[in-house]
Amino acid sequence: MKPKPVEFTKNSDIDISIFRRAFVLAGSSIGVSSPNPSVGAIIIDRKSGEIIGEGATREPGREHAEIVAIDSVKKRFPDDFADQLADSVLYVTLEPCAHFGRTPPCSLAILQNNIPEINIALKDPSEKVNGRSIDALINAGRKVKVLEKGFLMEHFAEEVAFTLGPFLCAESMQRPMILLKWAQTASGFVAPALGSSGHISNGDSRALVHRMRRLSGATLTFPGSVRFDWPELNFRDHLRDIRIRWAAGSFFQSLQDGYLRNQRFFPSVQGQTTRLFLLPRADSSWDRDSMENWILRQKNMPEEYGRPLFIYRGEDPSTDNYYKEVMSRHSLDYIRTESLEEFLRTLPQAGITSLLMEAGPRGVSYLMKNNMADMAMVFTSGGDPFSQGVAISPSAAKSLGAMIPLSGYSVGEINPDTLHVYLSRSFLQVADS
Ligand SMILES: NC(=O)c1ccc[n+]([C@@H]2O[C@H](COP(=O)([O-])OP(=O)(O)OC[C@H]3O[C@@H](n4cnc5c(N)ncnc54)[C@H](OP(=O)(O)O)[C@@H]3O)[C@@H](O)[C@H]2O)c1
Repeated sequence: MKPKPVEFTKNSDIDISIFRRAFVLAGSSIGVSSPNPSVGAIIIDRKSGEIIGEGATREPGREHAEIVAIDSVKKRFPDDFADQLADSVLYVTLEPCAHFGRTPPCSLAILQNNIPEINIALKDPSEKVNGRSIDALINAGRKVKVLEKGFLMEHFAEEVAFTLGPFLCAESMQRPMILLKWAQTASGFVAPALGSSGHISNGDSRALVHRMRRLSGATLTFPGSVRFDWPELNFRDHLRDIRIRWAAGSFFQSLQDGYLRNQRFFPSVQGQTTRLFLLPRADSSWDRDSMENWILRQKNMPEEYGRPLFIYRGEDPSTDNYYKEVMSRHSLDYIRTESLEEFLRTLPQAGITSLLMEAGPRGVSYLMKNNMADMAMVFTSGGDPFSQGVAISPSAAKSLGAMIPLSGYSVGEINPDTLHVYLSRSFLQVADS
């Protein structure tokens, strides 16, 4: 018998507030499930509409969201969970997996527990799934609905970007999702004309960046920043009580809540990030002793901040010889690459699917001009800590103007920064393809 085709649906008969809640649950799994996608699942009673179970994907090798949600129903109704599940609707933010990986397929658990209706936010585009679960569920007589892509992105672009973006980028572009952040003065300068910029953004903004570092698969900084700032990319302030004026009901706020919950429930994910340092050319005007001291400091940083990995462009022999010698002498991890793009393509294989990039005006300009940022986070200071400086290039500003503004937030109470978040159109196409 030919299977019934999958129904793509708008919101007429699906309660999108349930999906909203499912994405909030997914948000609580960011930094936990990686490199697996952060997925949320909710099970409702078909008759009453009451939520009877919910869950989010756990650490790799542990339960996916659907299983956590099914288990929560079993726990809540130890005597009649089978009847409960047989008269329920499962909402899940990504198509259930269809294959035996580190865990058995979720589609099998849905079938075994006789869940009759399944509402899915996004079909899984990966080769291993790609509609297989949907087909299996429909073939077994289950009612399956998938949100229309346009509708999904209209209502949940931010949610999809944060929870599924890394997975989608790794699957379709073979590189991590890139979140580019920078701070600028009220007049738009990213760095002073000469030397280090000190702090442009306030302490609350920096604490938020520390959280982003902690949640990202890796953080990468650029050569000019290394030369001027000797960055450490740690996240010592990530648990600081920060003051942000969120938009009402914003997903960012729920991310923040999820993050704080994770700190209590998932302490084991500490130390899973990587600190990536793109090093300057050896002919730059830095002092080699300071450089070596800084490199050694990175090696000796507490493990919880993530392992350091040094990258340099090896096209000129003096850079190659210098770093090879320093790295071997101190037994450090390093990579010589022809280009940043080439290096980025190696990251998904190493399990890194989300990358926070921190750069000065030239790095930001390069990344923006080449449309490499999937998401941009721009902190604008309430004042001008210096009067003369370097802004991003006009072509980078044009690229920023072409991105989709998602949200604006006010960060900090005294002299607050403004934070604007933008999503690239090419990311939307990836999610919408
Ligand atoms: N406001 C902020 O958010 C922020 C953040 C970080 C740093 N800063 C400030 O920015 C200033 C430094 O500015 P900057 O523009 O020189 O810093 P940067 O963006 O960190 O580094 C720029 C350098 O990166 C290299 N680069 C550019 N594209 C590259 C690519 N595709 N692959 C590999 N390397 C590439 C280039 O080096 P080559 O010229 O050798 O090719 C370029 O000079 C400092 O004052 C620092 O304090 C500000």
